[in-house]
Amino acid sequence: MEQYVIKGGNPLVGEVEIGGAKNAALAILAAATMADETVLIENMPDVRDTNILLQAIESIGAIVERVDRHTVKINGSRISNLVIADDYVKKIRASYYLIGALLGKYKSARVALPGGCNIGSRPIDQHIKGWKALGADVKIEHGLIITEAEKLSGSHIYMDVVSVGATINVMMSAVMAEGQTIIENAAKEPHVVDVANFLNSMGANIKGAGTDVIRIKGTGRLHGTEYTIIPDQIEAGTFMFAAAITKGDITVKNVIPKHLESISAKLAEIGCEIEESDDAVRVVASKPLTHTQVKTLPYPGFPTDMQPQMVVTLALARGASIVTESIFENRFKYVDEMTRMGGDIKVEGNTAFINGVEKYTGASITAPDLRAGAALVIAGLSAEGITTVDDIKYIERGYEDFHIKLQSLGAVIERVDSERELQKFKLKIG
Ligand code: UD1
Repeated sequence: MEQYVIKGGNPLVGEVEIGGAKNAALAILAAATMADETVLIENMPDVRDTNILLQAIESIGAIVERVDRHTVKINGSRISNLVIADDYVKKIRASYYLIGALLGKYKSARVALPGGCNIGSRPIDQHIKGWKALGADVKIEHGLIITEAEKLSGSHIYMDVVSVGATINVMMSAVMAEGQTIIENAAKEPHVVDVANFLNSMGANIKGAGTDVIRIKGTGRLHGTEYTIIPDQIEAGTFMFAAAITKGDITVKNVIPKHLESISAKLAEIGCEIEESDDAVRVVASKPLTHTQVKTLPYPGFPTDMQPQMVVTLALARGASIVTESIFENRFKYVDEMTRMGGDIKVEGNTAFINGVEKYTGASITAPDLRAGAALVIAGLSAEGITTVDDIKYIERGYEDFHIKLQSLGAVIERVDSERELQKFKLKIG
């Protein structure tokens, strides 16, 4: 019964170091298996998702060496098994990046079909369309995606939807195809650019990542490299909203402020002061927050992964706000938990209608998924009294030492794993 137990009410103040981007790391770890030489990856977040992917990578025969908590070496020269077991895929959807990597390198991969996820149906038709365009045969049999190719040939691919996963997966395979591939309507997220930079550092020839047209000249072989993963835009954004919701003053350090622009702009719009420097952003929330309207969009729009943090903050702002979720259809499940804390939020279809309330009151709540879980924690930090958050395994998928970083900002939060510890915490805080 691991839980966070929180006593809310004090403003969070101070500086916090942001780790490497989880979503970039997942793709980069998979891509690292494409070289037969050793690849050294730095600034890797030590979170559940990356650790599970590392186990999956070891299970196919690659050599994984943890140099220190945030540095790993991968050598893919001894990969002997092109099948990724169901267990890994069930635990972490992004293990499907190994299809793009293995299909590119070995022209064959078998990976369990990723199941439903709790933020909406998540088809992979665009990944499949891309691989087929490169000349692969793709079948789904007995719950497995089976991809095989005699050879891969460059192609012109138009993505029907902007998809981070499909852009990265097809880009990885295309690196090992013969000739040129053009991906149109590509995703432009910072982690797409990071994966392209990583592949280029291994000898790939990818141009245009970060725009909606990516051009890849196929390369026969990739070599070893040393690479540092970019900072996590969503971890940083979550702490920026923690400053807003607790009326605090937080500086997120080791970030790329450009990646945070849509988040900084919305925080400024609702009344926070934002100060940017080369690799830090400070958020000061000294004035009452005001309402706004937000729609989630692919980068550079407002990220869907920041939508719950935005909603829980707006629900404490003056006036009526509207938040529209345009990426995933089932991403408001945490709203019922907010109601238990006194939030006044009504969801119709993909839109949340929010009436700001004066305060939240602590309650027992459950994290429904990773980002919503983090949003509920920051709501708890702003609430009067005690909040317990269950199912924190979701939060730990993507936030490293979340409660420890929050404690360093003055939060009264503990991670407990028994009723006894919970009671101890309650006694301690009075
Ligand atoms: C990635 C992120 C996730 C983030 C999301 C959007 C990782 C590990 N996860 O997820 O945190 O919320 O980007 O920024 O990086 N779609 C299709 N067909 C496809 C693929 C996607 O219709 O073949 C749709 C999805 O249902 C969704 C939209 O495209 O509506 C965007 O999804 P996508 O960008 O692919 O998200 P993920 O890569 O799964």
